[in-house]
Amino acid sequence: MLPAIKWESDRVSFLDQRLLPEEVKYVTCRDYRQVKMAIKDMVVRGAPAIGIAGAYAVALATMEAAQNGPRAKNAIEVQEFLRLAASDIKAARPTAVNLAWAVDRVLNKTLAAFASSGLTGAVETAVSEATAIEREDLEVNRKIGEYGASLIKPGSSVLTHCNAGALATGGFGTALGVIRQAWKEKKIARVYADETRPFLQGARLTAWELLQDGIDVTVLVDSAAAYLMSLGRVDAVIVGADRIARNGDVANKIGTFSLACLCRYHNIPFYVAAPLSTLDMNIPSGRFIPIEERPETEVLEFRGKMIAPKGAKAFNPSFDVTPASLVSAIVTEKGVIFPPFEENLSQIAR
Ligand code: MRU
Repeated sequence: MLPAIKWESDRVSFLDQRLLPEEVKYVTCRDYRQVKMAIKDMVVRGAPAIGIAGAYAVALATMEAAQNGPRAKNAIEVQEFLRLAASDIKAARPTAVNLAWAVDRVLNKTLAAFASSGLTGAVETAVSEATAIEREDLEVNRKIGEYGASLIKPGSSVLTHCNAGALATGGFGTALGVIRQAWKEKKIARVYADETRPFLQGARLTAWELLQDGIDVTVLVDSAAAYLMSLGRVDAVIVGADRIARNGDVANKIGTFSLACLCRYHNIPFYVAAPLSTLDMNIPSGRFIPIEERPETEVLEFRGKMIAPKGAKAFNPSFDVTPASLVSAIVTEKGVIFPPFEENLSQIAR
């Protein structure tokens, strides 16, 4: 797999996910503002991947502070600059908690290093913390893959939504990590990928990723999932997450909640795979998760061409919240969590 993110000492490049699978092209960002725009415009996307991108953005902001050293009058000015840059980066996309988690992790370490060893130490720390976040994410996903594969019965047909793969993470993927591992263990017969309107992460990205690994994939329009399930052709649904509240409510790509309802109706297990960095123990339930609304043009247009009549408005929430009561299990790097989630998540988060 081509990496979604490449760090090169003073710049970070992203595999442009707006262009895949037709074009394989990297976008290079040399300062944190460019990274913020790449996150906002979905050049880079997926909760863990935007966390890693945000971490590198803080590293670039720290380098900028070091370059402006003589202009930075005092330590307070440097701290203020880094704090403002961090909050600017976090504002790029509000739903995935991984972004704020990674930015704050790098910021706090960097500020501590700045206090003890000045800007040189701060730059070294920011870069090494950001690269650690990326490396750890890959390790975490491999563990999620192993735990999650234990839930899949041999001969299964599994359905996934959006893209929770290598492209959305530091590598291997969360939901697709489980699928990759279960495929390797010869438990999966085929994968169904919802196309995932309007950005088409399923049709464009998940199908591309799985085919590269030689995994059998069938794309369907999102609204075909109910019929497919009614035919008895889905044994499990597995998706990623952008934020999981303390009670186990799950925010993920718009359409996930419908899938969970369909699973309950058809008695199909509904699994969520996510690292602990997606868990937000500060909020009691999904009601407190900010849901990003994206531009109306994403719905009203297709590839720059209007598909709805002029004057029509669009409702374009990027995510929805699936109540914990519809979730069969949450797969993390520390193991598989079953209900009651409130109790079991708080034990694992310790
Ligand atoms: O809008 P996106 O493409 O960033 O949304 C991505 C998802 O909803 C993923 O399922 C989630 O971030 C998990 S990625 C491992």
